[in-house]
Amino acid sequence: MEVRNVKVTEVGPRDGFQSERTILNTEDKIEIINNLIDAGFPRIEVSSFVSPKAIPQLADAAEVLEKAKRNKNTTLAALVPNARGAIRAVASKIDEIVVFLSASESHNKKNVNRSVQESLIGFREIVKIAGDNNVPIQGDIATAFGCPFEGNVSPKKLGEISKEYKIMGFKGVTLGDTTGMATPTVVTDAVNTIRDMVPDFEITLHFHNTRGIGLANVMTGLNLGITDYESCFGGMGGCPFAPNATGNICSEDLIYLLHEMGIETGIDLDKLITIAKKVENLVGHKLPGQVMRAGKRLLSYSMDDVPTAIGA
Ligand code: COA
Ligand code: ZN
Repeated sequence: MEVRNVKVTEVGPRDGFQSERTILNTEDKIEIINNLIDAGFPRIEVSSFVSPKAIPQLADAAEVLEKAKRNKNTTLAALVPNARGAIRAVASKIDEIVVFLSASESHNKKNVNRSVQESLIGFREIVKIAGDNNVPIQGDIATAFGCPFEGNVSPKKLGEISKEYKIMGFKGVTLGDTTGMATPTVVTDAVNTIRDMVPDFEITLHFHNTRGIGLANVMTGLNLGITDYESCFGGMGGCPFAPNATGNICSEDLIYLLHEMGIETGIDLDKLITIAKKVENLVGHKLPGQVMRAGKRLLSYSMDDVPTAIGA
């Protein structure tokens, strides 16, 4: 199952900006989203229609969507937790709704203040609103590879939730590694179990680099034939309702890796590096991305710029 093309979703305007203490101004967010569209991303998570008390950083979702550029090659998606969010999202002409729950009860309670079963029941209202407006739905599962409160998550649980998602007519399931607990072994078990329990259902992988093995997990996904990944410019990101949540895998580092392997993404890496540097300036602190600092591998320097080591 050799992968030749990969679809990368940029989650920075949602996962990245929600994790910043400073609230970015709306005009800057819109400019970054427009730059991402121009860089060729096929899908961008632009914001969340959640409670502004839960995530004040994304309270301007409607304005962001009203003013962001639209392009037929880029799907603009946003997180929706309940019917209220779905009504706001369709009013903003969102291209795709992303519903989310956590595989573990304790994180679901922290994140959306309800049980997993209550979340699934609540999704039915969202399905109705989205269906009436012809908006497709993607289903996320947070803490899919482990929960900071409960530990291991059973792959069977992921399969059961994915089955519900398929029955509700969702496009596919995204497995979110909220606190970076995925490892190649855990990812392989999760993907194989979901494929066994729910055949023909698209799986997207969303890793965080909390323990430094985010791209190793992507390599595992590629070996399993997974073609859909989510990442964030500069390696920002993290859930405010999980302990020690740190950044997503970095979009520039991921795209650099894929292109070096001859895998196409349709994304302009040079433009993306410029965006990551712009975001770094906006947030005012160093981001963990590495390619944005080092440049591509064949970037060459003048010998005059580097001192020569001379023995004393
Ligand atoms: N959009 C805007 N406001 C919303 C809303 C939505 N989708 N859903 C609820 N609210 C408002 C309600 O109107 C209410 O406001 P009020 O206090 O002024 O009356 C308040 O939020 C609480 O509403 P309630 O229905 O009681 O929700 P809750 O307190 O049980 O919280 C969620 C549930 C899901 C709304 C909230 O936990 C949430 O938004 N979580 C999102 C977390 C997240 O995005 N995490 C990061 C992504 S992994
Ligand atoms: Zn994330």
